Amino acid sequence: MTQPTICWSNGSIKIIDQTKLPNKFQYLICRDVKTLWLAIRRLSVRGAPALGVAAGFGVLLGCKDFLGNDRPKFQQHVKKVCDYIATSRPTAVNLFYVLAEMKKVVDENPLATVKDLKALLEKKAFAFYEEDRRVCRKIGDFGQALIHSGDKVMTVCNAGALATVDYGTALGVMYSAKRKGKVFEVYSCETRPLLQGARLTTWELLRDKIKTTLICDNMAATLMKQGKVDAVFAGADRIAANGDTANKIGTYNLAVLAKHHGIPFYIAAPKSTFDLKIRSGKDIPIEQRRAEEVRGFYGKATAPKNVGVYNPAFDVTDHQLITAIITEYGIIRSPSAKNIKKALR
Ligand code: MRU
Repeated sequence: MTQPTICWSNGSIKIIDQTKLPNKFQYLICRDVKTLWLAIRRLSVRGAPALGVAAGFGVLLGCKDFLGNDRPKFQQHVKKVCDYIATSRPTAVNLFYVLAEMKKVVDENPLATVKDLKALLEKKAFAFYEEDRRVCRKIGDFGQALIHSGDKVMTVCNAGALATVDYGTALGVMYSAKRKGKVFEVYSCETRPLLQGARLTTWELLRDKIKTTLICDNMAATLMKQGKVDAVFAGADRIAANGDTANKIGTYNLAVLAKHHGIPFYIAAPKSTFDLKIRSGKDIPIEQRRAEEVRGFYGKATAPKNVGVYNPAFDVTDHQLITAIITEYGIIRSPSAKNIKKALR
């Protein structure tokens, strides 16, 4: 995408407000950490890699008004800012990875002054931004080999430019396939409750002139049975050491369906989405969101106000259901603890 999803601009964070898409293309300017925190919570900025970049810039926001040269106080301040940003959303590990790296900048430079540390933190935050742009294109380069002209591929949620700085992971694979001259079609699952597939993925793909058909989530099985799906591509919020993958709720459904119909199921994600400290998907924290998101639709009630609701934002797909994970290091086929360790070493 020509405009980045998120960038640092004049001492503020400028993000494309994704709650407004596809009706309005509008920027949201975050001048303080609280505004960023709320933007993350309400999904104005979302998607695991974009959340990582947001966390890095968020630390800059939180530190820009720190006055004085008291290094220990600054160290404490950085920790406090990081701890606060960490409470915004629990599942995407990219957010926690970047925060830990930002804290390390301070911890590992004991002789640096506050001014030096601010400069080092800025350099680091920008490095995450640039790394995301580079890594997504690498994922696209590797993954495009899995798409062939004439294919019909399915995706869920939005793992595109809007979920990263400007290219995407699962959709990045599609952009790279298109750049190679392949002609294919995409089925985008709408992704209830917050419709990232309907609102964001279709908007992005149509902008790139990729033929896209929107389906309700419960139509995927029928399409697969009719032989209309050649592969499924999804992103990830956190991948455990054994390859179990947390992604938007509904991803697991697609993986089970794909297995039943003999369709390859691919996850596309950068190394920063792997949490190798977590052995299996059982240990991945899953965000639970507000009941109103399920009881209503765009502000309109679709269910009785007093009905109970279950609203997990993510599910976990067992690694046995995943044909391969596409990373910037290559394609990890039959993901397992051993294969992942070898590939990411
Ligand atoms: O709740 P969201 O919109 O942040 O969920 C995002 C996803 O599930 C994406 O598929 C994932 O973060 C990968 S984005 C490249």
